[in-house]
Amino acid sequence: MNDLSSLPADFVWGAATAAYQIEGGVDEDGRAPSIWDTFSRTPGKVAGGDTGDVACDHYHRWPEDLELMRALGIDSYRFSIAWPRVIPQGSGAVNTAGLAFYDRLVDALLEAGITPNATLYHWDLPQAQQDRGGWPERETAERYGEYAAVVGQALGDRVKDWATLNEPLCSAWIGHLEGTMAPGWTDLTAAVRASYHLHVGHGLAVQALRAAHSDLRIGIVNNLSPCEPATDRDADVAAARRADGHTNRWWLDPIHGRGYPQDMVELYGVDLPIKDGDLESIAAPLDWLGLNYYFRNVITDDPTGPAPYAKSVYLPGVRRTAMDWEVNADGLEQLLVRLSEEYGANRIFVTENGSAYHDTVGPDGQVDDPERATYLEEHLAACARAIRRGVPLAGYYAWSLLDNFEWAYGYDKRFGLVHVDYATQKRTIKGSGRRYADIIAAHRRRVRRAA
Ligand code: IFM
Repeated sequence: MNDLSSLPADFVWGAATAAYQIEGGVDEDGRAPSIWDTFSRTPGKVAGGDTGDVACDHYHRWPEDLELMRALGIDSYRFSIAWPRVIPQGSGAVNTAGLAFYDRLVDALLEAGITPNATLYHWDLPQAQQDRGGWPERETAERYGEYAAVVGQALGDRVKDWATLNEPLCSAWIGHLEGTMAPGWTDLTAAVRASYHLHVGHGLAVQALRAAHSDLRIGIVNNLSPCEPATDRDADVAAARRADGHTNRWWLDPIHGRGYPQDMVELYGVDLPIKDGDLESIAAPLDWLGLNYYFRNVITDDPTGPAPYAKSVYLPGVRRTAMDWEVNADGLEQLLVRLSEEYGANRIFVTENGSAYHDTVGPDGQVDDPERATYLEEHLAACARAIRRGVPLAGYYAWSLLDNFEWAYGYDKRFGLVHVDYATQKRTIKGSGRRYADIIAAHRRRVRRAA
């Protein structure tokens, strides 16, 4: 049995989603296309030709989804706001009908006693802004700052917990270097420039949110992975260090006032378009750090591959999810300790953690997913161990509340605590969802007993 007794009384139990993955309603109430509408409609980019056109139809079914949150007993719901609903052309006119959707959602969450935790950007850049150059251009960071001000002013009276960016690594590296996410580029210079402007945008968004309401708690969400050498060969050890720079240090150092890691600046060989005051703004103090954790990387040298000339190896005999990702809960503990000890984080949330498995609906209508339940328990136990080691971990958001559009994998990969039948939009709480509800309830009982 996993020991969760070290989780503090006020530990925040949550679940997370993202706009394009669940909302659907892509052309309703004034929303304009995002880069993901364009990408998913481009033949060959997404498995099965799937798009987010309907997704989980959350745009219409959110009251039902709120009931599911209540049934799970979560304290907080992490969702993202779609920039193309709020400022459809990326800049200029604000679409009040788009904002009104989030108004209704936030009011209903608060009414249900569920704390909203809003992310400003989870990859759905307005296509019009992409057409003006997208993240490789500074203008996008500036427009993003303006969008943050609009949303902060509209919702900041009720939403107190905010994340600026979700996983900027994916926007920059996967979207502009590997090309398997929108906008689908494979250009190192564009990728490095995008990474930089995402950070500039983050700094501007922090300023805008703080100016909108002085009592907001603001963080950023990074996806990180331990990068361990596959062997003790010098070449693999050096490759693991480069992979760590690419995956972790590039995203953590600048927001902690350490600038960009010099070894990586040299490796990429791309001039960063730094302007006076940028590095200070990027490193503006935050109230919390978000960690999205899924797997660790075991790395070998790859001199002929793309930057950072390091690749993951496939270890035989380890448990893997349907994404082919290694199940390794120790990696979560390790990263939490690193954020606390090496970066001095004083409030951390696990903002995403979860697993895809091939779920099926049984003849009794139930979805039995013991592997996901085990994954959940093992990773919560890793959180509890990190807390015992002094890590200021304040909460955990399971990824995801619902099965949803898993980007280039389409609807084939299911991460939900709740199963979605896409043909009928029927929701069914899976065994892992019931397990999560039990864990939350047991924690609350423990807290009450101790009071
Ligand atoms: O579905 C994604 C999410 O959008 C960002 N973090 C990782 C999840 C699983 O791949």
